Amino acid sequence: MTTEQFNRRYLYLRRLIDARLVSGLKNSEPRDLMQGSRYVLAAPGKRVRPILMILSCEAVGGRVKDAIDAAVAIEMLHNFTLVHDDVMDNAPSRRGRATVHTKWNLNNAILVGDVILGLAYRTFLKSKTNNIRRATEIFTESFIEVCEGQAFDLEYEHRPNISPREYSRMISKKTGKLIASATELGAILGNATPKQTEALRSFGRHVGRAFQIQDDLLDVVANEKDLGKKIGGDIVEGKTTFLLVHALRRSRGAEKARLRKLTTRRATPVAFRHQRQLVKEVTSIYERSGAIEAARTQIRQETVAGVSALDALAPSNSRAMLEWVSAMLVRRTY
Ligand code: IPE
Ligand code: IPE
Ligand code: MG
Ligand code: MG
Ligand code: MG
Repeated sequence: MTTEQFNRRYLYLRRLIDARLVSGLKNSEPRDLMQGSRYVLAAPGKRVRPILMILSCEAVGGRVKDAIDAAVAIEMLHNFTLVHDDVMDNAPSRRGRATVHTKWNLNNAILVGDVILGLAYRTFLKSKTNNIRRATEIFTESFIEVCEGQAFDLEYEHRPNISPREYSRMISKKTGKLIASATELGAILGNATPKQTEALRSFGRHVGRAFQIQDDLLDVVANEKDLGKKIGGDIVEGKTTFLLVHALRRSRGAEKARLRKLTTRRATPVAFRHQRQLVKEVTSIYERSGAIEAARTQIRQETVAGVSALDALAPSNSRAMLEWVSAMLVRRTY
């Protein structure tokens, strides 16, 4: 297939998913809950997880219809995590719009997240497969692991000296697991062999980890308009990112002390007028320390490892497209 054909197929699948995400939202009351849910599910996302699921299903001989309900469900599960993540991360914007807790309020963000999780299960259970029990277990485990990863994320806020191993465990749980479950579920819904299922799960795990490192990188190198999120939000919030972990290990002397000081928990949040200066200074330390280059290298390595797992599958257009999607994610700007 050509790049043009890959792009067209991606767009086709994205539209299919977009339409189904909102089709179950018929009620207009309770007003804030329904408006908030629609606001989240209709916002333009990349739909990476459901598309990877459908392609994984096809790569083992399944059809779109075998995976579509679970695919929409996993995107809903992801959207639920985003609404609550934005509360925890104090994020003002997402997908180019105000976040739910800033547009409405905290209570509505809790409820909108909860109801989207409920919708995710309702949609997931429509899947027509003989393996519904196993599939539901995988779906549920991924949800639990995201919560664990998010808890590590909060625990590591402003805690100095997080090791690469701790960072790695955190991203495998908060992001890697859901993407690995998407590809694994795609395989299961396509009636894959155990070997094929393992290959696709491994692909998803590596691509998922690359995805979070890239997300950490975009927090400093992207432009706000493309990204749709506030630039430098991780720095202002004192998040443990790939860049922070590696910049602390790579810098020495006064520069290391300065970076530690800038990223250590403060008694009061950084005043808005100081945020730009903080982000600028930390970003320049990231650049000088080589952490940005290290992130790019790690993203490439994880992606290569993911793609090599696909060797266990017979060549097909869908397998080729999985590879194309993984390369597209490395190049993404949002
Ligand atoms: C953002 O996910 C949260 C992370 C796990 C990094 P995406 O980058 O997939 O967000 P959308 O769905 O495309 O907006
Ligand atoms: C995302 O991590 C993890 C989950 C949403 C589960 P981030 O907090 O880095 O995601 P963004 O940058 O807000 O999208
Ligand atoms: Mg977060
Ligand atoms: Mg966040
Ligand atoms: Mg992020």
